[in-house]
Amino acid sequence: MQNTQEIEKYDQVDNLENIIKLKKEFGESFYLFDVEKLRMNYKNMLTAFSSRYKNFIIGYSYKTNYLPSLLNEMSNLGAYAEVVSRMEYELALKIGINPRKIIFNGPLKSYEDIALALENGSIINLDSFYEIEIVKEYIQKNASKHYKVGLRVNFDMTTDGISPLQSGVKQSRFGFCVENGNLEEAINELNQIGNIDVVGLHGHFSTQIRSLKIFEKITQELCNISKKYIQNTLEYLDIGGGFFGDVPKIMNIENVPSFDDYAETICSIINKEKIYFKNEPFLIVEPGLALVVDTFKFYCQVIDVKKNRDEYFVLVNGSVHNIKPSISKKNTSMELLKVNCDDYQLKKYNVVGYTCMEKDYLMIDHVDEIPKVGDFLVFNNVGAYTIVLNPPFIKERPPVIAKLGSEFKLVRKREELNDFINSNVYIF
Ligand SMILES: Cc1ncc(COP(=O)(O)O)c(C=O)c1O
Repeated sequence: MQNTQEIEKYDQVDNLENIIKLKKEFGESFYLFDVEKLRMNYKNMLTAFSSRYKNFIIGYSYKTNYLPSLLNEMSNLGAYAEVVSRMEYELALKIGINPRKIIFNGPLKSYEDIALALENGSIINLDSFYEIEIVKEYIQKNASKHYKVGLRVNFDMTTDGISPLQSGVKQSRFGFCVENGNLEEAINELNQIGNIDVVGLHGHFSTQIRSLKIFEKITQELCNISKKYIQNTLEYLDIGGGFFGDVPKIMNIENVPSFDDYAETICSIINKEKIYFKNEPFLIVEPGLALVVDTFKFYCQVIDVKKNRDEYFVLVNGSVHNIKPSISKKNTSMELLKVNCDDYQLKKYNVVGYTCMEKDYLMIDHVDEIPKVGDFLVFNNVGAYTIVLNPPFIKERPPVIAKLGSEFKLVRKREELNDFINSNVYIF
């Protein structure tokens, strides 16, 4: 564990004085959003891929973290918006994204959603036959124009009898299945309409392992399918998200590929296969976690330390919902910022949150110097799937402060009762 002086040298933001100032101004617990880190992550990914394949597009996965100031940054960096609902689509428009730079995915799209995306020239990837029926209906009413769609594809990802998919699911529920002929049928149906082309394939698979082998398989399969069915109309291959970003040591994950490793694997396949297509296709990636996970830290303060039987419980004014709404039992990377001068003892302890839920553990059986009342705990790598999944459960949601150089700027206010139990929504 670093002491405060070391931390100050290592990263100005963790300077205790700054933290105390931020606490005074913005309240007892808060997120800190590191804008420069986001810019660096984006640049690193862009350089890794575009130096190997020039027609390259990053479509940032909105659902991972749709803090508007983060979305503005992404937009300024040149990212497309990858959205999976009308709500996210409208948010992208509100941010000022050109609709042609919106990639509309997801399993549930209404007639109005599809009509809007087609009219606006957005990139739209269909997921099921019911969406093809909607497309037909819309196109019949608009027969004078020409349209483009992509299809999400579903193929077996099992290797050696083991499914790599998240939560151990045996097969993905998304897209058109290749093996049972659904994909071929979908392409034939769309081709019969006449004034629409299938111009892209989408192959996102959420896996636990995020390995190079996964991306090798997705990229090669998408190329093979395109060669077979849409050789002349192909405009893009969208290999989805699911890349590793920064992985804290405490997570004990070995062989984490770098952006260069991913880019080398994927681009070497596309560079080999591109000659088979009429036009050199765009390569689209849809990173979420990899770009934002290490751009957020969560700060909270120790309120009490108590012992129940032989276990220590460190109570903080944060909750597991703030750092891992999935309530996974895995410990994340945490730092202690000491405000006390006396000696600290090495102990095994739990960090527990403000809710009255038994399972509200931010850290379980952690062995280190046990914090004291008033100290700050900093949880690193909490930028992905946190603020979007964090309900105002029992307590208002904390503010988010953006850090750019030595400047700090409030980008989300601390929520108040009237913000979430609002009479515009609730009938009293
Ligand atoms: C279609 C799609 N694209 C991209 C992503 C982003 O994935 P990740 O955050 O793992 O990069 C997801 C996440 O589930 C997704 O469903």
